Amino acid sequence: MLVISNLLKQYGDLVAVDDISLRAEKGTVFGLLGPNGAGKSTMINCISGLLRPTSGSVSVGGFDIVDDPTDAKKLLGVVPQELALYEDLSAIDNLRYWGKAYGMRGEDLASRAKEVLGNIGLADRSKDLPKTFSGGMKRRLNFACGIMHRPHLILLDEPTAGVDPQSRQRLFDMVEAERRHGACILYTTHYMAEAEQLCDSLAIIDHGKLIAQGTVAELRAKLGARDVLQLSGAFPGDSSQQAIQKLVNNGLSDLELIAQEEQNITMTLSDASQHLPAIFAALAEVGGNVSETSLRRPNLETLFLLLTGKELRE
Ligand SMILES: Nc1ncnc2c1ncn2[C@@H]1O[C@H](COP(=O)(O)OP(=O)(O)OP(=O)(O)O)[C@@H](O)[C@H]1O
Ligand SMILES: [Mg+2]
Repeated sequence: MLVISNLLKQYGDLVAVDDISLRAEKGTVFGLLGPNGAGKSTMINCISGLLRPTSGSVSVGGFDIVDDPTDAKKLLGVVPQELALYEDLSAIDNLRYWGKAYGMRGEDLASRAKEVLGNIGLADRSKDLPKTFSGGMKRRLNFACGIMHRPHLILLDEPTAGVDPQSRQRLFDMVEAERRHGACILYTTHYMAEAEQLCDSLAIIDHGKLIAQGTVAELRAKLGARDVLQLSGAFPGDSSQQAIQKLVNNGLSDLELIAQEEQNITMTLSDASQHLPAIFAALAEVGGNVSETSLRRPNLETLFLLLTGKELRE
């Protein structure tokens, strides 16, 4: 449904999307994950035809978005990161507006608008203006506008930003429903947990580059069974690193130092809890002082940490 080939987008000297290739199939949710500024919205805007790629190509259902934009755009539904609602039109009229923009008319338009309004749990607010809605309700309506015309490829740019758990679950249900109907959904988020729950396959991007791609299971497998150990405190630079290296040489062969700063050390290793005393002792020997310890089982969040050496923060 979506084929992206060597997509490159530059803003002046800044390379926002750096040679990314990926494909997403019908009836699946494809997650595009990355921290703020990773290049997610830029990619979405290149796919939707809002931005012209510097080089590379995007094909939607076999139609090139630059060469054949009319056919490609018919298949596309876009739910932008910024709300795109008409504040002076009622909820139902917002939906009718977007349906009409895609050529829907008459009974089909009326019944579809009612249907999606029900799906987002706003049937009883049909005649109300979006300005009387909460943030989560607006998000849901924003989503519904994007899917009015039953698009085959739905681009969702951080649809859950700032919504409460209940609205979030409703959005998830709506995504699931569209997938069941055979749509392909590109789901952009910086919440790893959402991606693990929703997505069939994922691409993780950082600074415009693709740093990992695969199914959730494939990406998990990359992590193996190692734990992530984070220590906070005070750690003298080189000597702490040498102390850790000594541990590796003396038997903790799968210990990997991910990031080391004066106040934080992050490493991965198997059975970390068993090795804590040895690690503390080695650091104490070089004058290090551990004030806080956190030990985590691996998840996609830790995969990001492993690949980039930094946390995927909001
Ligand atoms: N119109 C623009 N002109 C210049 N630089 C831009 C423009 N839009 C985005 N950028 C830059 O491109 C990079 C990627 O931005 P983008 O909005 O695609 O990131 P994002 O992954 O969507 O981030 P967020 O999670 O914050 O929405 C950033 O460094 C950003 O500053
Ligand atoms: Mg964005």
